[in-house]
Amino acid sequence: MRVAVIPGDGVGQEVIASGLSVLGAVATLEIEELPWGSDFYERHGEMMPANALDTLGRCDAIYLGAVGWPTVPDHLTLWGLLLPIRQAFQLYVNLRPVNLLPGIRSPLTGRGSAEIDMLFIRENSEGEYSGAGGRVHLGERHELAVEVSVFTRVGIERVARYAFQQASLRRRRLISVTKSNASRYGYVLWDAIVAEVGGREFPDVTIERVHVDAMAARMVLHPDSIDVVVGSNLFADILTDLGAALQGSLGLAASANLDPTGEHPSMFEPVHGSAPDIAGQERANPLGAILTGGLMLRHLGLTDAADRVERAVAEVTSAGDFLTRDLGGTASTGEVTQAVLQALRHP
Ligand code: NAI
Ligand code: MG
Repeated sequence: MRVAVIPGDGVGQEVIASGLSVLGAVATLEIEELPWGSDFYERHGEMMPANALDTLGRCDAIYLGAVGWPTVPDHLTLWGLLLPIRQAFQLYVNLRPVNLLPGIRSPLTGRGSAEIDMLFIRENSEGEYSGAGGRVHLGERHELAVEVSVFTRVGIERVARYAFQQASLRRRRLISVTKSNASRYGYVLWDAIVAEVGGREFPDVTIERVHVDAMAARMVLHPDSIDVVVGSNLFADILTDLGAALQGSLGLAASANLDPTGEHPSMFEPVHGSAPDIAGQERANPLGAILTGGLMLRHLGLTDAADRVERAVAEVTSAGDFLTRDLGGTASTGEVTQAVLQALRHP
């Protein structure tokens, strides 16, 4: 298995180093490390070289830290690397598990691991982040910008199908998040197609439609009533940051950008960004990146190795001796990584 690794910027580099040492302990992967990101941008005027997609296309998976640095405008980093990869490879599913690990305290008082265990499926190729739009009359008083939300039958159908499949493997309940009372077209089409795919292909999965604002409240008040959730690019982006907070830290949240057809390499990245405020201080929590590595192993069919990684992380959080500051501990990135490696050696 050949894995392209883009550590990227800031703590991305630190947590990917941790992730690679854990992956190296459980699987044999051929690693191709790519020095792309904001430094590369400052030297070459682009986030990644012109042939980047060819290089990535030859790999079985992509393992990414984070991109973004205060010296480069965020829309340039995002549109210079992340979004082109997601779009070119049609990574139309963004999978984000939200589960409370043993030993970790959620900001929701009194909630344990059994009550916070959700799986978010975010549409990752269109919707509000389609990139369609324009800006005219620059600098004038009547300057105008249009950002177009794009919803297609193909796009909704494929992400809905994936979500139903995941729901079939879990509690057979799917929540579809929209705002189809205020929207008149896009989310209305979304609702219709989700109902169609469900009725036709997954009659044994219950569909519940929830508006995104109500969903935000429900995640806080009744997280135990939520299992698999499918939502548009923007809505699920926002809700999964809330999810990461419910998990106890953004530094614990893992995610996968998937092409479920297998035609292109899928891309695996922790949910957090480059965290310039703590970069270079050995303070970053590496567990989100390590769990992301676990998602990658599972996707590559290395199920036993993935299980081992997840068990080792749960052992470390359960013991609670080596936690980074975001989780109330004092351990460094390196010490937490060593604790995971130790748990792998002596479970
Ligand atoms: P961020 O996720 O980098 O940081 C938000 C807060 O969470 C900060 O206080 C940070 O210290 C903390 N945090 C993040 N990761 C952590 C970890 N592993 N351990 C402990 N604490 C952690 O989000 P922010 O500040 O909005 O963005 C910083 C830069 O990262 C920006 O340039 C942004 O565009 C980029 N970014 C990139 C992403 C990606 O490449 N997928 C995702 C999100 C942001
Ligand atoms: Mg986000």
